Amino acid sequence: MKKRIITTENLEEDLKIENHLRPKSLAEYIGQEKAKEMLKVYIEAAKNRKESLDHVLFYGPPGLGKTTLAGIIACEMNVGIKITSGPAIEKPGEMAAILNNLQEGDILFVDEIHRLNRQVEEVLYPAMEDYCIDIMIGKGSSARSIRLDLPKFTLIGATTRAGMLSAPLRDRFGVIHRMEFYTIEELTAIIKRSAGVLNVTIDEEGALALAKRSRGTPRLANRLLKRVRDFAEVKYDGHINQEVADYALDLLDVDKEGLDQTDRELLTVMIEKFDGGPVGLDTLSASLAEDSGTIEDVYEPYLLKNGFIQRTPRGRLVLDKAYIHLGISK
Ligand code: ADE
Repeated sequence: MKKRIITTENLEEDLKIENHLRPKSLAEYIGQEKAKEMLKVYIEAAKNRKESLDHVLFYGPPGLGKTTLAGIIACEMNVGIKITSGPAIEKPGEMAAILNNLQEGDILFVDEIHRLNRQVEEVLYPAMEDYCIDIMIGKGSSARSIRLDLPKFTLIGATTRAGMLSAPLRDRFGVIHRMEFYTIEELTAIIKRSAGVLNVTIDEEGALALAKRSRGTPRLANRLLKRVRDFAEVKYDGHINQEVADYALDLLDVDKEGLDQTDRELLTVMIEKFDGGPVGLDTLSASLAEDSGTIEDVYEPYLLKNGFIQRTPRGRLVLDKAYIHLGISK
């Protein structure tokens, strides 16, 4: 068998598979019921008025479907979508060029929008509000600004941290929506749908076993499904049942509560080094040698939601559930 080496090419291939699994319509999209319900109304209203959709901001932990929803909105509105991210746009001129190249009604999706720099962000204010940009031409005393009209576009911003967005930018979004973690039932349905797209057979118990360990996150569910499929094909007969799923997931170090090695390390450090807390985020970040933003955006939300830790004014506190899960006595 050919060795699998990670190159830009197969990284792109992986991304394509992820794209391949993304639903293309609201009807196919599982979960986030509140988001779907309101988007259905806003999309229909905008289409009836033959207008572009109001600007939308999605926030919440990574992997919950912000990009997928942006793609679905583009499909449902029958418009084009340009995808970029906050750190990718360094200069105001780059943002101006992107905006100027959009067609009427198009969507501009900016992932990690909280990471746009101030000057680039300022280009967005008049663009979002009045569909225009001011461009400076010339230098020194002959410099002047000219106003350029833009097509009526929709900005869809995604961020893991709504709190990091500046107030003027946040205020310019007509719709602000928080993405929720998915229930086990929703994840089971997503896994069965993805298995169908990938042409793998999986039974109810297999899908449930995977769903339980997916951290409430479809991106992780789909990633684990692909890895479990590899085990099923090589070690078993290709079919995924509970035994195959549990065997593979144990090897992948994802435990029965969906916690991975980093989650467990975080809890263990809090317990062993800080007596279970309260411990401040920066102290924790230094102890783990992990960026505090990553801890706050990626690891904490699931641990908080599932009652492993609690936030207090004096810092993070480990709860009984974590001690029991890790088998550590208080
Ligand atoms: N694949 C990833 N996220 C999904 C979702 N919310 N519904 C259906 N399939 C998905």
